Amino acid sequence: MINIAIDGTVGSGKSTLARGIADRLGFHVLDTGAIYRALACSFRDEKHNKIDEQEVEEFIKDKNIEVFFVGKNQHVSVNAIDYTNMLREEEISNLASQISPNPVLREKVRELQQEFAKKYDCIIEGRDIATDVLPNADFKFFLTAKPEIRAMRRYQQSQEKNISYGEVLKDLKERDYRDEHRMIAPLKPAKDSIIVDNSQMTLEQTIEYCLNIINKKYDKYGKNKRIKQ
Ligand code: DC
Repeated sequence: MINIAIDGTVGSGKSTLARGIADRLGFHVLDTGAIYRALACSFRDEKHNKIDEQEVEEFIKDKNIEVFFVGKNQHVSVNAIDYTNMLREEEISNLASQISPNPVLREKVRELQQEFAKKYDCIIEGRDIATDVLPNADFKFFLTAKPEIRAMRRYQQSQEKNISYGEVLKDLKERDYRDEHRMIAPLKPAKDSIIVDNSQMTLEQTIEYCLNIINKKYDKYGKNKRIKQ
């Protein structure tokens, strides 16, 4: 199988890039943030009053996570509850960022991601895909842009009307800090990742830029052969 890893900062356009590449190459896409978000929804449903290691480990023990597709749309269910419609709430963004460093929880999510990569030619997007989940991925992209630009993209996409640009920027910087400084699987490019700063690019240009890199190797080795880095 051909596996493409896309990691990067929040609001850098990882999902759009993954979708754009997938549409052109006919690959599957796995949005791993959605898995952590669905777990955050389930955690919220259980009304835990603390978010410490013990509490998260107790929570994850009996959880059955399923990823499935309705057309091209990814759905995630936890213990048979489909949380897809709630994943983008701001409260869930924050909660996902707080529970996701837990190593036991990450191990469960990692296994699910690796199974997916074995089954499909795919693009997996997240934070630690190139460094930890798929260290042998055929392509590794690390996407980022200046915080102010990413916050503006998030603000424009947000469905919540009562949140200001300033709040989105503050939130995004805090999440960057948490993602980059956590002990487990901190956000950083792998040694062999291609770093793409798209502050000065549209998302469409970002897709073209990465597709060019992929297509060069595709042409070289032929579409039916495994791509070698
Ligand atoms: O990409 P996102 O904003 O949907 O991710 C939601 C949260 O999940 C984010 O705060 C970090 C976490 N996450 C992670 O720890 N590892 C991943 N591979 C993807 C997301």
